[in-house]
Amino acid sequence: MQQSKKQTVTSIINSKGNKKLSMITAYDALFSNLFDGEVDFILVGDSLNMSFGGNSDTLGISMENMIYHTKAVCNGAKNTFIICDMPFGTYIDKDNAFKNAMKVYQETSADAVKVEGGVSKAHIVKHLTDNSIAVVGHIGLMPQNVRSEGGYKIKGKDAQNIQELIEDAQAIEEAGAFCIVLEGVKPDAAKLITEAVNVPIIGIGAGLDVDGQVLVWSDMLGFFDEFKPKFVRKYLDGASIVRQSVQQYVQDVSDQSFPSSDEIY
Ligand code: KIV
Repeated sequence: MQQSKKQTVTSIINSKGNKKLSMITAYDALFSNLFDGEVDFILVGDSLNMSFGGNSDTLGISMENMIYHTKAVCNGAKNTFIICDMPFGTYIDKDNAFKNAMKVYQETSADAVKVEGGVSKAHIVKHLTDNSIAVVGHIGLMPQNVRSEGGYKIKGKDAQNIQELIEDAQAIEEAGAFCIVLEGVKPDAAKLITEAVNVPIIGIGAGLDVDGQVLVWSDMLGFFDEFKPKFVRKYLDGASIVRQSVQQYVQDVSDQSFPSSDEIY
């Protein structure tokens, strides 16, 4: 069912405890247009470096490329709250972070930016929010740490780490983040983190006891069929549908059943 009204920072915060929020990624106008008005927010994730760019992690995407894709997503989805991921290395200090986030606001119509990091990035989140940039946080498994941590490591496995994650969430909430993505965290830990803050926690691989869910579109629609993370639910077998359609097209060209008399001028 289509939602009638575009979400705002305030309506997103007010959803906590009242409505489960749905977020999906998009990287272009074609797909963002299909998702427009259906989900609460669209994330132009730096995962585009993997699913769109064919790279093995998110680290190589540039600010310019994120802006290009965010513009396209905004063009396709005028009725949906849009978040642009800040790429690796573009928010290493307050000034860099603001310069790059300002570019996102000036060159696209994105509503917010997303940055990875908890306590250690709270001063950056605060600088952005103090300067009128709406910020979504991202804690737990942070894909931009994949090389420094030597892989994608599930978080929240012991009491000490759960406490650290709670402190991460509280620090960036206090710094002004209006929403937090929580990735790759044990469900019991996710529940405690969700209860510890007043802003919505959007989970990915974090179980049910959060305020909403986010999935990468190409995973959930089955276009990436080399690997399916455990937490992904596949709503469509996109890859098979595309392959079968292309094979049929090649067949039709070969046997000259395409174009038909209805398909010529
Ligand atoms: O880049 C991305 O798509 C993300 C989601 C996995 C939350 O950050």
